[in-house]
Amino acid sequence: MRVLSGIQPSGKLHIGNYFGAMRQNLKLQDENEGFYFIADYHALTSNPTSDDIRQRILDVAMDYLALGLDPKKSVFWRQSDVSEVAELTWFLSCVTPLGLLQRCTTYKDKVAQGLSPNLGLFTYPALMAADILLFKSDLVPVGADQKQHLEMTRDMAQRFNNAYGEIFPLPKDYILESVAVVPGIDGRKMSKSYGNTIEIFEPENSVKKKVMSVVTDSTPMESPKDPDKCNVFAMLKLFASPEELAEWDQKYRQGGIGYGHAKKRLVEMIHDYFRPYREKRKDLENNLDEVERILQTGAQRARAIGRQTIDEVRKAVGLCPMGNR
Ligand code: ADP
Ligand code: TRP
Repeated sequence: MRVLSGIQPSGKLHIGNYFGAMRQNLKLQDENEGFYFIADYHALTSNPTSDDIRQRILDVAMDYLALGLDPKKSVFWRQSDVSEVAELTWFLSCVTPLGLLQRCTTYKDKVAQGLSPNLGLFTYPALMAADILLFKSDLVPVGADQKQHLEMTRDMAQRFNNAYGEIFPLPKDYILESVAVVPGIDGRKMSKSYGNTIEIFEPENSVKKKVMSVVTDSTPMESPKDPDKCNVFAMLKLFASPEELAEWDQKYRQGGIGYGHAKKRLVEMIHDYFRPYREKRKDLENNLDEVERILQTGAQRARAIGRQTIDEVRKAVGLCPMGNR
């Protein structure tokens, strides 16, 4: 199956992103034909500066490669390197009623928050549909917040097929189930917008400081503690082996250990877990040519497929195919 996933270049990845979606997403490349791209055209809808977007694209490329995106198994590219996707957006726009886009909840939410929308933001779902349909993807792993975009994609594909013939298969969504909501250091859901994150690639001593500051209740050291109500325990669950987790569960319930002990062990586990990825990330930082080469090789493979689809579409609507022009 062809699995396609768009990655927003939206800044530093945190532990919640990793265990909430990214790890499950990357696992799909083992048994499928993985297509992963950096959604840089989409990122322009929020008008970042050129320096900012350039850096974020590079960061997200290195993050994903370091955390296991395997360019030998999967195709990995920058969305804007295959500009056929922008052309397909136009064809889809012409069969899409305005009302469909006006009902889009991610758009309505942003407007409700006071954002003054540009046309790019309004047509965001058409560009996303083009991402998916250009490569005739079978499966699209997304968080629940993106489900409506997939419904809109199927709607646009169907409208196009009805008008011009069966060009696009209808993609299925694959909702990435989070293991659990990962708490941030203040106990709320870990999120960039709350400023309570532990970033995967921040310096180890800064990770340590943050873990030591995770909010806990004031149960004294001797007293029994409820692991199910503890933010530290919720994080231990992500990293500990089942045996070690059972031990911590028992230690909590018996009392006699402080939250500080659990935090110290958690720091070690986080470091051990991410150390190989951290080293890989360092290697990539010292080898940016290699990162660029991977992205360009991916773009070539993606472009070959994109061009074919665009020519089918051009023919179907009555325009001249590009062929080798
Ligand atoms: P943020 O809230 O930091 O802006 P995003 O909304 O960009 O994070 O999240 C990207 C993906 O990571 C989503 O699919 C979401 O399911 C997952 N995710 C983010 N934060 C958490 C969390 N604290 N726990 C579990 N999953 C999370
Ligand atoms: N909209 C997606 C997000 O915010 C990113 C994205 C863009 C995407 N194009 C895509 C995801 C195509 C899946 C398929 O996370």
